[in-house]
Amino acid sequence: SDSKIAPTQSVGPEYQPESKKPTATVSTPVDFENVTVLPQTPQLIALLSIIRNRDTQRGDFVFYSNRIIRLLVEEGLNHLPTVEHTVTTPVGRPYEGLSFQGKICGVSIMRAGEAMEQGLRECCRSVRIGKILIQRDEETSQPKLFYDKLPDDIASRWVLLLDPMFATGGSAIMAVEVLKSRGVPEERIFFLNVLASPEGIKNFVSKFPKVRVVSAFVDAGLDEKNYIIPGLGDFGDRYYTR
Ligand code: URA
Repeated sequence: SDSKIAPTQSVGPEYQPESKKPTATVSTPVDFENVTVLPQTPQLIALLSIIRNRDTQRGDFVFYSNRIIRLLVEEGLNHLPTVEHTVTTPVGRPYEGLSFQGKICGVSIMRAGEAMEQGLRECCRSVRIGKILIQRDEETSQPKLFYDKLPDDIASRWVLLLDPMFATGGSAIMAVEVLKSRGVPEERIFFLNVLASPEGIKNFVSKFPKVRVVSAFVDAGLDEKNYIIPGLGDFGDRYYTR
């Protein structure tokens, strides 16, 4: 995983014979029990191919990254614990179903993480969302907490931490430290990201073995400026300004 070459695999609908399936770069495998990578489906690879393309303009970048974010949120919700919940249908019959065990909230790491808030709201009506602003200190080049605004009762919630680009893991690590200092146990934190680096994952998991990570794709590595490669460039710039 440190070789910075991502694996290639045939990707296509299950019914197609292997020989008919096209080949594509797929996620670097990671084997940490608490890290989940989205299934490398033809749809996901096609969506990623659009947002990774340097020639994709802002409107399409926003639309297609929102699609991937939605897939990520839907997968993340599958990892929340549920309890038995039986309801009665309009025809008077019981249905033995489930409901989520606890309340959730989102916490976005500004600015790029705010791009993931809408996808969470689409899945969880009137979900509470907090924010954390972490930036690199110019002098020390270490991440520094500049601002946070979190729900008062966050300690009793399941927290979906949102940041699309999981590069070195510096910001995510600081964000988890803030959440833990507010009383959120690691086990109740889920970190959702679009692109991760193997270095970032390794670093993060060694500090927080109980936080669950859900990534759409683990890329090959980081370049000398700590950009994810092959990556997609600066997510915040492409989503908000270009
Ligand atoms: N943040 C980004 O937006 N892109 C990267 O490649 C790394 C961090």
